[in-house]
Amino acid sequence: MHGAWVERLGDDLLFNHQTPNLLTLLLEEWKQRAPTYAFEAQRLFSRILPLQNDQRTAPVLLQGDAAQPVETVVLESNIRFGLDFSAGYSVGLFLDQRANRAFLRTQPVRRLLNTFAYTCSFSVVAALAGAETVSADLSQKSLDRGRLNFTLNGLDPAAHRFIADDVQELLPRMARRKEKFDTVILDPPTFSRGNKGRRFRAEDDLQSLLSAAMEVTASGGRILLSTNCTKLRASDLECIARFSLKNARLNGTLQHLPTLVDFPEGTAASTLWIQLR
Ligand SMILES: C[S@@+](CC[C@H](N)C(=O)[O-])C[C@H]1O[C@@H](n2cnc3c(N)ncnc32)[C@H](O)[C@@H]1O
Repeated sequence: MHGAWVERLGDDLLFNHQTPNLLTLLLEEWKQRAPTYAFEAQRLFSRILPLQNDQRTAPVLLQGDAAQPVETVVLESNIRFGLDFSAGYSVGLFLDQRANRAFLRTQPVRRLLNTFAYTCSFSVVAALAGAETVSADLSQKSLDRGRLNFTLNGLDPAAHRFIADDVQELLPRMARRKEKFDTVILDPPTFSRGNKGRRFRAEDDLQSLLSAAMEVTASGGRILLSTNCTKLRASDLECIARFSLKNARLNGTLQHLPTLVDFPEGTAASTLWIQLR
């Protein structure tokens, strides 16, 4: 449905909607279809998609036991991720990145740099395959949740690096230290303010961010470029990637994974894997 969709998070469902009317329609559709599914939802949550980021609120419980913990653990391809329905607009795992997490599992990764790491889902995937990981995010709280995700999967977070810093400052610093990674995840927000109020706006700054990421990517390495900015579509990511490759005098191949059928057009992140040669 345009402007509304449902995400399954373990035993719970999250109804995303742009307007109250769309939520009503989505719930009606769900009630009609629910008896045909083998899965029985424990709780239904709803979340409104506001026009402005600063109007974002945590999901609301629509149906189910209010006494059940808001913190829960879900499984994706046998990997455990902690969720918290009260933590804010984002509950802990971006389902629209699941194909990229699955793709990462098929790649040989020795050193992964996960920038804008949030709860470090990509780092957990790589660490489980034996990689050394560095996760960077402005939010110490998100990185702490990331450490918990490591522990949930029997990984020792102390064996990995977690850096609470502005990625725009961290990348040049790593480049000066000649740090190199064979895989770099670059999934910034549409807009943010970093250290000292430093602004990041995907439309203006994604290209320079990608160029900075290329500086720390080993030859033969790969970069996942991703954005939720609705003004940047898949073809824009390709242009940005080609421009950055040319600037860095590098060759590379570009690969889009198939679009996810459960996200209406324009709601999932646009993503592109860049394989350096
Ligand atoms: C879209 S989320 C990333 C989601 C993540 N890639 C995943 O799949 O779970 C964006 C994250 O970027 C962080 N962030 C925003 N601005 C930042 C900055 N300038 N430097 C570092 N992290 C930043 C936010 O705290 C948030 O956790």
